[in-house]
Amino acid sequence: MKHIPKLGFGTYGRTGTAGIAALETAIDVGYRHFDTAQSYDTEKEVGAAVRNSGLARDSVWITTKIDMANYASGRLVPSLEASIDRLGLIPDLTLLHWPSPNGDLALEVYLDQIIDAKARGLTREIGVSNFPIAMLRAAIARTGKGEILTNQFELNPLHNNHQLARFCQSVGVLVTCYLPIAKGRLKGESTAEAIAAKHGASVEQIALAWELAKEYAAIPTSSRADRILSNFKSVDITLTDEDIAALDGLPQTARAIDPDWGPDWD
Ligand SMILES: NC(=O)c1ccc[n+]([C@@H]2O[C@H](COP(=O)([O-])OP(=O)(O)OC[C@H]3O[C@@H](n4cnc5c(N)ncnc54)[C@H](OP(=O)(O)O)[C@@H]3O)[C@@H](O)[C@H]2O)c1
Repeated sequence: MKHIPKLGFGTYGRTGTAGIAALETAIDVGYRHFDTAQSYDTEKEVGAAVRNSGLARDSVWITTKIDMANYASGRLVPSLEASIDRLGLIPDLTLLHWPSPNGDLALEVYLDQIIDAKARGLTREIGVSNFPIAMLRAAIARTGKGEILTNQFELNPLHNNHQLARFCQSVGVLVTCYLPIAKGRLKGESTAEAIAAKHGASVEQIALAWELAKEYAAIPTSSRADRILSNFKSVDITLTDEDIAALDGLPQTARAIDPDWGPDWD
């Protein structure tokens, strides 16, 4: 069975020619997992970069996400077919991007459609994003255990979301961290800086190494070749138990992505 590479490349903002160039750099330095979404407008870029690379389809993992505008009955499958056209390939994983805004649609309405999309062969795996514990529990009750591959949500050392992450791991759902480097906000955090100095690394590399040590997946992005490479090099860093415990204890900041139509967080 194909496995999701734990370190992936986020593609929010990686549009157009510059976006394809960043993706090609990411492929060159070794990323084999790419995270796109219908709402990012980067599905075409991801497809083009993967095609240009000449890599075998099976050596690359592609995740896309269904936009909530496509949750109404009868809309999800055609929207995923349109994603497949833009990508030029069948995604490995398709996520429900958010719970229905303000809870307007019942979970079954959109969950049953993504289950159907998988049955039709339009995606190899399914998952969710921004699902708090109660909704993830309800989703698993409907799909059966082992069907939801991942829950993707905001997680980094400054917003560690430990409760939700622990629940995901207890039910066998992979945690995928978005904003895994906190958009560069770890700079100057004294504990993280001290650990980074000890390893001859950047605080961003330390954040990614901490996530990987917890067996989370992480999907940082950058427009810059030097950062695309240095973020990827985090796979070479082994943190000590003391480092991990110190990073677990960092002062927490509010979530950065918190729309007023979002779910009730844990
Ligand atoms: N499921 C969801 O709802 C959801 C929400 C948000 C994001 N995501 C996914 O998660 C991915 C990552 O999230 P994100 O892009 O918001 O946050 P991020 O990866 O934590 O941070 C990216 C930002 O940090 C900067 N950066 C990158 N490497 C750096 C480094 N080594 N040192 C300092 N700054 C660095 C980048 O600027 P430069 O370009 O200037 O390097 C960029 O502005 C997205 O691309 C997307 O695929 C999913």
